[in-house]
Amino acid sequence: MANAAIGADVQSGGISRREFLYYIWGASIALYLAQFAGLMVWFLIPRFKEGEFGGKFVLPVGSIPDVNAEPGNFPDGRFWLVNVDSDQPNDLFALAPDETGQTLKGVLAIYKVCTHLGCIYAWTPANNRYECPCHGSKYRLDGRRIESPAPRTLDRFQLEFLDANRNPIPNTLSPEVDDFYQPVPVPSNAVFISIDTSAKKTGPGDTLLCDFAGSCP
Ligand code: FES
Repeated sequence: MANAAIGADVQSGGISRREFLYYIWGASIALYLAQFAGLMVWFLIPRFKEGEFGGKFVLPVGSIPDVNAEPGNFPDGRFWLVNVDSDQPNDLFALAPDETGQTLKGVLAIYKVCTHLGCIYAWTPANNRYECPCHGSKYRLDGRRIESPAPRTLDRFQLEFLDANRNPIPNTLSPEVDDFYQPVPVPSNAVFISIDTSAKKTGPGDTLLCDFAGSCP
C-alpha cells in the first residue's frame, strides 16, 4: 500500500507520472502558442492577390476610356472605368440643372452592382446610360441615378495613379468629399492606374435626374 501511495512519483519507463503530466501540459501550451502564431500570420497575409476581385487591379492608363466616352468594362474586377469632364458635355455626359456651379472631372471606378437590390446592371449604348434589368433603375455615365428605385448613385472603388515604376503619384488617391470618392484627373506622368476593390464607398444619395433624362418614373 505504501508503494501505491507514492505511485504519482514512482518511476515508470524512466520518468515519473508527475514529470509525464508536466510534459503533456508543456506540449499543450506549445501547441496553443503555435496555433495562435499561425493565426496571426494568416491574418497578416493579404487575402486577395493583385488582379483578383477583393484586391488591387493595376492597369495601363491606355485602358482608361476617352473623355465622356462609353465606360470601360472590367468584369474580373466587377467595375466600370469612366473618364468624365463636365467642361466637355456631350450626349453621354452633361451636368444636370441642379449641378450648376459644380465641376466633375476625372476617372471613376464604378461598382457593377445596382444600389437597389444588388442586380448586375449594364451599360445600354442605345440610351447612353446604365440600366438595371431587375426593377428599371437607370444611372448616368458617372453613376448618378436617373431613375429609382435605386436609393443612391452607384458605389465607387478607390483608385490611384502610378508612375512607370508602379510607385503612387502623390495626390492622386481618390479624394473623399462628404465621405464619397470623387473623380481623379489623369496626371501627365501616369503610366498605370490602380483600382482597389477592397476599398469601396457608397455613392451619394443625390436627387433623381428625371428632369435631366426627360422621363420621370
Ligand atoms: S436591383 Fe436594380 S433596380 Fe432593383
